Amino acid sequence: MGIDIQSVIMRLIDVSYSYAGRYPALMDVNLSIGDGEQVVILGANGSGKSTLLKIMDGLIRPDSGRLEAFDEDVTTIVDDPARSRDLHRRVGLVFQDPDVQLFSPTVWDDVAFGPLQMGWPPEDVRRHVSEALETMEITHLAQRAPYELSGGEKKRAAIATALSLDPDVLLLDEPTASLDPRSKAVLVDLIARLGQEKKTIVTATQELEIVEAVGSRAIVFGDSEHHPIADGLVWEILQDTELLLSANLIHEHLHYHGPIRHIHRHETAGGHHS
Ligand SMILES: Nc1ncnc2c1ncn2[C@@H]1O[C@H](COP(=O)(O)OP(=O)(O)O)[C@@H](O)[C@H]1O
Ligand SMILES: [Mg+2]
Repeated sequence: MGIDIQSVIMRLIDVSYSYAGRYPALMDVNLSIGDGEQVVILGANGSGKSTLLKIMDGLIRPDSGRLEAFDEDVTTIVDDPARSRDLHRRVGLVFQDPDVQLFSPTVWDDVAFGPLQMGWPPEDVRRHVSEALETMEITHLAQRAPYELSGGEKKRAAIATALSLDPDVLLLDEPTASLDPRSKAVLVDLIARLGQEKKTIVTATQELEIVEAVGSRAIVFGDSEHHPIADGLVWEILQDTELLLSANLIHEHLHYHGPIRHIHRHETAGGHHS
């Protein structure tokens, strides 16, 4: 299992984590992310995707195992505020719920929040905020209140709050969940463009339709294993129906036909009409 990686930027070694010491979320996770890679973490609800991203961002500390980032051991970084801050700048986590990330009176203030916390000079803050807004194509929304935005606009604003810190790694937790098809397409396109610029991006999702656009490699978390059960090229993973069925990413009656095509319902008895 696995793929040749030129230069590893983050690595998890035998990482396990349980909530309240009782509810296992990750069990013996081993994986590496290469510099400039776009990796999709595929897994059903509860498979451990969000927990994985929180560990990678240094928000929670593994119960056991190790986390390496940028050639340093950062396993216990949660206990060190200065190093934690540095990791948060270099690794930007965008939560599934954008309302967690948007709390200021305007979009501009939200996107400026991180850079201001870093104590950057005002002109640097302005430049980084402008660039992040431009990249997410929301410059025209800068003075709007976040609660006035549509779901898709909120997502783009939330990603901009991470981009304004010019992170080396971007972690996206289910970025397209609950978006309408057009907003989803716009967002996927923006993520794909970041990837083309060689940004390292890790996207957690259970939506097979976006996988090919946002990554070239996919790591599949099992439905109950709490660790990867496959790691390979996206097109290989998407063709492996048995794997996708066992990981609860497709259902035999709600079947998936090839990358970014369509999903349609099979007849329960007899053949199906296409
Ligand atoms: N705050 C929490 N308290 C207790 N258990 C949790 C908590 N958050 C997640 N879990 C459990 O950890 C497992 C992994 O969850 P999560 O990382 O959120 O998965 P995913 O993001 O893939 O849906 C699930 O079994 C879930 O019930
Ligand atoms: Mg989740």
